Amino acid sequence: MTNAVEAAGLMLAEPGTYTDNDRLHEGLSLLRRESPVHRVEAADYRPFWAVTRHADIMEIERDHERFRNAPRPVLSPRALDERLEQMVAEGRALRTLVHIDGREHRLLRAIGADWFRPSVMRRMESRVRELTRRSVDQMAALGGECDFAAQISMDFPLYVILSLLGMPEDDFGLMRALTQELFGNSDPDKARDLDPASATLVIDDLFAYFGKLAASRRATPTEDIASTIANAQVDGEYLSDQDVLSYFIIVATAGHDTTSGALAGGIQALAEHPEQLRRLKADPSLIPTAVDEIIRWTTPVTSFMRNAAEDCTLRGVQIRAGDALLLSYPSGNRDEDVFADPFTFDVGRTPNKHLSFGFGVHYCLGAALAKMEIAAFLQELLPRLDSLELAGEPALAATNFVGGLKRLPIRYSVTS
Ligand code: HEM
Repeated sequence: MTNAVEAAGLMLAEPGTYTDNDRLHEGLSLLRRESPVHRVEAADYRPFWAVTRHADIMEIERDHERFRNAPRPVLSPRALDERLEQMVAEGRALRTLVHIDGREHRLLRAIGADWFRPSVMRRMESRVRELTRRSVDQMAALGGECDFAAQISMDFPLYVILSLLGMPEDDFGLMRALTQELFGNSDPDKARDLDPASATLVIDDLFAYFGKLAASRRATPTEDIASTIANAQVDGEYLSDQDVLSYFIIVATAGHDTTSGALAGGIQALAEHPEQLRRLKADPSLIPTAVDEIIRWTTPVTSFMRNAAEDCTLRGVQIRAGDALLLSYPSGNRDEDVFADPFTFDVGRTPNKHLSFGFGVHYCLGAALAKMEIAAFLQELLPRLDSLELAGEPALAATNFVGGLKRLPIRYSVTS
């Protein structure tokens, strides 16, 4: 194994890697070529296997009996892993859909799934359109220059998801701060403090907030997903408080930074590829393929993990029961075996079998909602947009979980 391959593996454990897309993709391309199932033993992290080829990621996600989400669904530093284990022992850890496997996962997922069906999506569409109009009006009011990531794309998906949860607009600011702190725990601009274990304090605050929401929805159910979850039963029993609160937290947080990251990254890609922007403006029927390409191009979730339930081999490499495997979605999404010209941003790309929403039984519950939001935003923006260019250096967040732009200075002309 060359030093360059070793370094490429180690970089996956460094949140800072995800602030530099060139360095990231250079390392991932090397891993795909030289060591597609690669053992990483990084300081401060428990060992894991980095899986970088599209076909292997699909195979692992498909085989959900052998490769399970529990106990370690997300890559985090050893100190945070240990703190989370302690919280599990104390019964106050997050136990969301991504932490659970098998029948229990299927039943819990079914509770929320109804809210993401096409009929409910259609009902949400008018609220989404109202929020997109507000966002593009705000761009116009800002007079032709803004930080799109901080001032526009941060709030729009948050407001959509909090409307779905039925939360009051007065609480949106608090939820924005907590979501940012939860996913941004390794970025100095976002984290409450950079001690990895401090992420658990954010979880305590989220539990406290959602505890009150659950109690109010049990006392007085309303027409929203929070009421459905708070009053749901599995096998004739109400969900535990821990499960209800964890469910609220995953819905509130998973639908926020991910979609904001894709939207801001999409605007950056359009600013940097004016010929693609012209093509899309000239032919809005390309919006659905453009949305998928934006989501492939940006890949806001950098990875999820799976844990081997038994000994097995993957691409000839021996994996032991209990080993953790990191599924590198940005890598799968640039795999030359699957995508023609993977490093070309093409708003008309078909087919586009990207892995940004994962695959299999844990496939993103909010995928249709996220796509609808980005499509609605483009439908509102494009007819009103006369020019678009970068007005400074974009900055990506330092994170090895949910990533994306934290700053995107742009200059534009948008009609009021
Ligand atoms: C562009 C935006 C988004 C991206 C890139 C994204 C990505 C992902 C990924 C990679 C997974 C894990 C899939 C797997 O393990 O195979 C996931 C799961 C999930 N996502 Fe999203 N997501 C996005 C938007 C949303 C939205 C808007 C919601 C709305 C609530 C949402 C809710 C969820 C939930 C609840 C899960 C857990 C599903 C399960 O474990 O069964 N996501 N998402």
